Amino acid sequence: MSLKQPTQLPEWRALEEHFSSIRDQHLRNLFAEDARRGKNFVLEAEGLYFDYSKNRLTGDTINLLLALAEASGVKERTEAMFSGEKINSTEKRAVLHIALRAPRDAQIMVDGQNVVPEVHAVLDKMAAFSNRVISGEWKGYTGKRIRNVINIGIGGSDLGPVMAYEALRYYTHRDITCRFVSNVDGTDFVEATRGLDPEETLFIISSKTFTTIETMTNARSARDWSLKTLKDDKAVAKHFVAVSTNAAEVTKFGIDTANMFEFWDWVGGRYSYDSAIGLSLMIAIGPDHFREMLAGFHAMDEHFRAAPLERNLPALLALIGIWYNNFFGAQTVAILPYDHYLGRLPSYLQQLDMESNGKHVDLDGNTVNYQTGPIIWGQPGTNGQHAYYQLIHQGTKLIPCDFIGFNQTLNPLGRHHDLLMANFFAQTEALAFGKTAEEVKADGVEDSLVPHRVFEGNRPTNTILADRLTPETLGKLIALYEHKVFVQGTIWKINSFDQWGVELGKVLANRIIPELESPESPELTHDSSTNALIERYRQRRNPR
Ligand code: F6P
Repeated sequence: MSLKQPTQLPEWRALEEHFSSIRDQHLRNLFAEDARRGKNFVLEAEGLYFDYSKNRLTGDTINLLLALAEASGVKERTEAMFSGEKINSTEKRAVLHIALRAPRDAQIMVDGQNVVPEVHAVLDKMAAFSNRVISGEWKGYTGKRIRNVINIGIGGSDLGPVMAYEALRYYTHRDITCRFVSNVDGTDFVEATRGLDPEETLFIISSKTFTTIETMTNARSARDWSLKTLKDDKAVAKHFVAVSTNAAEVTKFGIDTANMFEFWDWVGGRYSYDSAIGLSLMIAIGPDHFREMLAGFHAMDEHFRAAPLERNLPALLALIGIWYNNFFGAQTVAILPYDHYLGRLPSYLQQLDMESNGKHVDLDGNTVNYQTGPIIWGQPGTNGQHAYYQLIHQGTKLIPCDFIGFNQTLNPLGRHHDLLMANFFAQTEALAFGKTAEEVKADGVEDSLVPHRVFEGNRPTNTILADRLTPETLGKLIALYEHKVFVQGTIWKINSFDQWGVELGKVLANRIIPELESPESPELTHDSSTNALIERYRQRRNPR
């Protein structure tokens, strides 16, 4: 594997040179030169149709990017990940989310032990528990059946479950309501529990560490809320289960480890929703659908591991991202799902990508002299079209976009799906080709308005199309982005699996908490701004 930073590789310099010949090329010309471009720059794998023709690149660009991937050791590092090497070097951990969806007979070793049997033991335990909740056999303390499931967690212990629950809502049992509480703002908890009956409510406390302050605060409020009605500590066993790697803290909280669903330190939080962290999702959609989703993840894992780079979907998506991030200087990527069920996908991918690749030093601790992870943002179409697409079309920033859609809708309703997809296709067409001043004039637009009505075009997009949003398709899509992030991190030579950048804020908050809770605490010793803000808060927090 190369120990060099990417900018020191000849393949990088070749891309820089090539960039100068491409930067001013317009997609209009690239399409005019190659009548089959829309069919040639396409890759279909595992039921996902990936059209990357509306990108500012040529066959040469792809070849140079592939050479960069090869020189960066993408294939070797993929093998290292799949075979359980401790590639999360700063935390000295293996990175094995791929083991969470490995079939029962697979063998994946960590420290000399095959982890696959443990994975399936937990999945079986989750399935047995979910079936008991779904069937009503698992009852609350007073004998009522469970009608509400509330997942309490934050970051990877929330964003994955809530994204997948929304994405697969079509497949959910409608007689159980799932809610998700993450924010330490009490409003989140109060609104999530408003109107619910504690006798019918099950809390899943999801936390890899079981020490995260937001989650533990919400968990304690949940216990108080439940016991206010149920009035007996023994009720906790019927209304609280835990998902964690930390049995000691789970016991300390008062949850019997018999009601704990385990996962392992080789699963990163943001890579964990297909572990026991997905328990709320499994209760919502049932174990069979959950397993279909895992099969989807696994199919994409296999594709990623086996396919040569030039036919490798996650690798191509990653390389195109690098092209814009590092050569065009694009700062962001918009994720635009044209499916209402995927409304939470951009937030989920935000953590996956930004917590993984938001790094400024390389694996050896050297500061990088190139851009790493992009800002990820977005919302489902068509809503965004009436909000921020203006800037994507006519603003001064280059924003590569991933458009994600489905040929079939789960909810046929009159013309709705055709209208949705017409907008999807129209947007990528408009972004690529725009509208010239001549075309605007030909519409009879008065001269002074022409510049305002011109669309430069040449705005790049990827299109990812699948037939139908199923649990399996969702698994494939998520694994696609997981591996895309991995490939980019490998090329940037950074550790995509730690998150030290979240620590400082936590430490400083812990220092401020007693200063807010006991105003008689010693003199404030922060900077003058923070001191003044704390003082103002202390003076005014109680309404007169
Ligand atoms: O603060 C960041 C983070 O550590 C994420 O990486 C993680 O997903 C989240 O907090 C929640 O952590 P836990 O599952 O341990 O409560």
